[in-house]
Amino acid sequence: MKCLFDLGRDVPLAKEELFSKLDSWNVNYAVIEEFGEVVILDCETDFKKLQNHLGGTVRIVELKSFDELFVDEKEKWGFTSYGLNRTEHAKKLTELKNLLGSKYFKHPSKGGKRVLKLSPMDLVKRIKKEFVFAQGFWGETITFFNPFSHITRDIARPRDKETKSISIRLAKILVNLSFVKKGEVLLDPFCGVGTVLQEALLQGVNVVGVDNSKIMFDNARRNLRWIKKKFGLNTSFNVIHGDSQGLQKLVEDKVNVVVSEPYLGPLITRTRLSLRETLERVHGLQIFYDTLFKGVDRVLLKNGFFVFVLPRFRVGKKIVDIDVKKLVKGKGLKETGFVYEYSKRESRLLRVIRVFRKI
Ligand SMILES: C[S@@+](CC[C@H](N)C(=O)[O-])C[C@H]1O[C@@H](n2cnc3c(N)ncnc32)[C@H](O)[C@@H]1O
Repeated sequence: MKCLFDLGRDVPLAKEELFSKLDSWNVNYAVIEEFGEVVILDCETDFKKLQNHLGGTVRIVELKSFDELFVDEKEKWGFTSYGLNRTEHAKKLTELKNLLGSKYFKHPSKGGKRVLKLSPMDLVKRIKKEFVFAQGFWGETITFFNPFSHITRDIARPRDKETKSISIRLAKILVNLSFVKKGEVLLDPFCGVGTVLQEALLQGVNVVGVDNSKIMFDNARRNLRWIKKKFGLNTSFNVIHGDSQGLQKLVEDKVNVVVSEPYLGPLITRTRLSLRETLERVHGLQIFYDTLFKGVDRVLLKNGFFVFVLPRFRVGKKIVDIDVKKLVKGKGLKETGFVYEYSKRESRLLRVIRVFRKI
């Protein structure tokens, strides 16, 4: 089946996540076309479940011929196009209206202008069926990102509301980049309130978390207990209160994958760090991560993936980075070549996702 994936705002990251997920599910796929935020694949799988597991993809569309498009009477329908200007979009919409009738057509607009792409909120709240046109193909949306599904397990979980944690979207992406399979074990050595752990649990993965803060340790356990009950999961979790600088002493059984957004150094307040201060900070973190990599090398099973977020600092026009070659040197870990910087351009602390593999 030919289907279109809208990869949202971080296209290379969402694409890598999608391909990693399809590979870990052993789904065969062929890339037919790629343009803008879209990739078109030939593949067959449970698309609703796939959309649910993915953090980056925002909609999945089944491509069809124009004659195959169909709308039930009284269904509210909308239209999204990719790669068209307003005039071309309007022309395609007229073709659709002639085929389907315009009585139940809904047209969300922004600032008086009709939108070319329906938002997830339009799809959740107002539109029953979405038709799509992209690069000569017609299609119907099978499934899309539902923002309410994240709200349930982010805002509603019992953890301390003031605590900063990574987004559910990013946690899903990191988990999927690790190729982890149902029934395997994932370790997060800086688990915080347990966002990465909870997203892995929801995918049928057993998890182990480590955090050196008693508050985080308690919050993670409380959240994971809640998630298990709320979603009726039979996967297991083990949260350890300890310092991940001594990982091999804390984690007795080897794990299939390691996934983490770690400690990135003390919070940078409004005062600027000088180049010297930044170099000192990076030097300290280099030693800290070196010890961690030694631990990961010990606890990770052969061929297991290690997905890690490393900091990168901007001082004026200069970029100061962790020396990754040095981190893997002398350990049984190698870089896979996947590197993605996902921070805002203007921020001083940049986050870089890297994927390593145990050899
Ligand atoms: C960026 S947060 C982690 C976010 C988390 N991965 C999530 O899923 O939301 C970093 C965490 O690392 C913990 N931490 C800092 N140094 C640590 C260490 N040496 N050992 C274990 N945990 C540490 C902090 O308490 C904090 O909760």
